[in-house]
Amino acid sequence: MDSNRDTATWLKKLQGVLNDNQALPESKYLQLATINHKNQPEVRTVVFRGFLETTGSLLIHTDIRSKKIQDIAANNHAQICWYFSQSREQFRFTGSIQVITAQSKQQSLRLQHWQQLSESAKQSYFWDTPGEILALDDEFQSHANQSNPTQPMSDNFCVLLFSVTEVDHLQLKPTPHIRNRFVFNRHGWQAYKVNP
Ligand SMILES: Cc1cc2nc3c(=O)[nH]c(=O)nc-3n(C[C@H](O)[C@H](O)[C@H](O)COP(=O)(O)O)c2cc1C
Repeated sequence: MDSNRDTATWLKKLQGVLNDNQALPESKYLQLATINHKNQPEVRTVVFRGFLETTGSLLIHTDIRSKKIQDIAANNHAQICWYFSQSREQFRFTGSIQVITAQSKQQSLRLQHWQQLSESAKQSYFWDTPGEILALDDEFQSHANQSNPTQPMSDNFCVLLFSVTEVDHLQLKPTPHIRNRFVFNRHGWQAYKVNP
């Protein structure tokens, strides 16, 4: 066991991997799993939107009306699985999620992320409720509740802060493969080399 109290080594590794894989747009796609009210897993692909500088939390955008928000409200424990095809490595993050909504304190963070969105991405937060069943023979009308460029931030836009408590990092390129675990406890971050 390697005690590493000052720095989260996994964060430096992840930043390096993101840098190495930046030519691949799909390297920003990760799988986020939550637990629903029936205690069953729900997984979906989302876009990685950066780190919270102060804590290293992973940032994700979503619509407050989406199903995952109900899951998180009932149980904020979650996992992320993220594979980088160029460097052939996987990160699995265990942690919990805080939802930054229009009612939260951290409005500067929310605004900063809203401003980085493309116009079409902004528009999607004014569409009808995601996941709702359409009437028979209806087509989805994306122009419903259309925004205009001067419109303020949609109340539906929220930022998820995924706070990491455990990391499982698997590297497939070398043979034998390399696997490291990082666990956060009262002593800080602990690093373990484990069998792949
Ligand atoms: C490549 C890709 C990227 C996606 N990015 C996001 C995203 O950043 N945020 C998001 O809420 N949904 C994103 N989605 C849609 C989700 O996978 C999912 O369908 C949606 O969020 C509804 O999930 P829920 O019903 O579990 O809340 C993305 C889907 C794909 C295929």
